[in-house]
Amino acid sequence: MKHWYEHAIIYQIYPKSFQDSNNDGIGDINGIIQRIPYLKSLGINTIWLNPIFVSPQVDNGYDVADYFAIDPRMGTMKDMAALIEACHHAGIHVIMDFVLNHTSDQNKWFQKAIEDPNSKYHDYYIFAGEKNQRPNNWGSFFGGSVWEPNPNGAGEFYFHLFDKHMPDLNWKNSQVRKEMLKIAEFWLEKGVDGLRLDAFIHIAKADLRQNYPIANYLNKVDKTVIAEPFFANLPQVQEWLRPFCEQIKKDYPEALLLGEAASANVNLAADYTMKENHLLDNVVTFRYFEDDQSKIDLSLPPEYQPKNLNWSAFKQNQIIWQQTLAEVSLPILYWSNHDMPRLATKEAKTEVQARSLAILMYLQRGIPLIYYGEEIGMKNLLFTKSSEFNDKKVEDFVKEAKKQGKTTEETLNMVSVSHKMPARGVMQWTNSQNNGFSNVKPWIKGIKQNNVNVQVEETEPDSMLNFYRKLLALKKEKLFQSGNIYVLPTDSNSYVYRRDLDNISAIVAVSLSNNKEKIEIPHGYKNVMLSAGKYHINNDQLILMPYSGIVLSR
Ligand code: NOJ
Repeated sequence: MKHWYEHAIIYQIYPKSFQDSNNDGIGDINGIIQRIPYLKSLGINTIWLNPIFVSPQVDNGYDVADYFAIDPRMGTMKDMAALIEACHHAGIHVIMDFVLNHTSDQNKWFQKAIEDPNSKYHDYYIFAGEKNQRPNNWGSFFGGSVWEPNPNGAGEFYFHLFDKHMPDLNWKNSQVRKEMLKIAEFWLEKGVDGLRLDAFIHIAKADLRQNYPIANYLNKVDKTVIAEPFFANLPQVQEWLRPFCEQIKKDYPEALLLGEAASANVNLAADYTMKENHLLDNVVTFRYFEDDQSKIDLSLPPEYQPKNLNWSAFKQNQIIWQQTLAEVSLPILYWSNHDMPRLATKEAKTEVQARSLAILMYLQRGIPLIYYGEEIGMKNLLFTKSSEFNDKKVEDFVKEAKKQGKTTEETLNMVSVSHKMPARGVMQWTNSQNNGFSNVKPWIKGIKQNNVNVQVEETEPDSMLNFYRKLLALKKEKLFQSGNIYVLPTDSNSYVYRRDLDNISAIVAVSLSNNKEKIEIPHGYKNVMLSAGKYHINNDQLILMPYSGIVLSR
């Protein structure tokens, strides 16, 4: 392997929630520096930080007001330089989140754009419509229309795919493309080892003069519809991104370019990451995870109802992604992130299952990406007020559920396990009142759902934390870094694969079921490298007790 990042084991840090060093209730860069020994001991070699730029925090930093400065609540440029240096000293690479599809409405470009329609900054954003008529019926991911009136009353609208305070940049404009490259290189020059390109699949939009052709509006009130085919994965995404990526790779050949390609299917993922295309190194897809919709309450909107994963679809998806990307790029292997419920809340019903699922995911071919707190078994918080979700759609859901006879408490219990916000709780370092995160109450409210914490898990040899350490040590072995993967034909109650490199080989077998699973394995795999839960091995038959998992070598 040629590049450092082909061996990356990434740990995602949500900076606001990781460690507060100055007791203002908000995690910060110095807090991360304090925890480098912990990160090192876990066995990761890369951290990805969610955005830490100056921001009004409408979307927790994804609304950037100034790309060239750190949000003072999280630290200073000096702190960032110290973090990069300390991480590098510890052998840890640093990846920053890079928000390139939109800015904050407080960004000076946008301020100038709305002040003066003749300024060059007006064309940095997407303005359309006139006489107070919205150009089309497209809906925003955060609810309502993608169009918001220019607050200066010109009768025109600006486009925002996310919150109305996050106007989309106009990537058609070559000046915008230049500015974004400048920002990216500014941070790479500071020593950052890579960038996670946020929502990059949305930088191109179709002709704005067309409605999404659906008569049955999803949102009956404002008659908008998420018009994904009109603003995701359009061909210009690649056209505009290519020179950006090429220039970065020319100037910083070791920079990791990791794209967030939420809705990209596997063929697009291959397109985005094949060397010949000169785009990205890897992408994160949300397509691994399909929900089981069969138990949905039809009287309520589906989005915030708790759902189980559709396990057979999940298995199928893993196979397809592993096979399709085999000769193309390394898949990103992950269970959760700040946009989805935590593993221990959604997929893993028990601690044994959480361990087995970690085995299943991270020993496949690819780059593990572990969401902070997953390694100790943290769960989503429970929110007791709808306002804590900071999401208008949740408020609407609570109202709707009330009409159907649900109490607010019942509804908030549901949303707490399905929404992204409760997955952003502070790191549980200790069992003290503020979890060893801060001396004061954290910025995020909510009740923690278990007492797992680093302090206790450090002392227990068989804790989840120590299990993750063993798992990551295994992942670093050549076999799991570079070996081929063959998925063995088993039914949908288990996921079994073999990793092979020259004459070394291992079988990874994980039960996805609540029953005793009997699995035929190739002859001679008897040495247990790692396990979770109970099992028996009888000659060439492996018996896994509910949700157990095992790694066997010859
Ligand atoms: C994807 C990020 O992961 C999400 O948290 C954010 O809201 C959107 N992009 C907008 O930046």
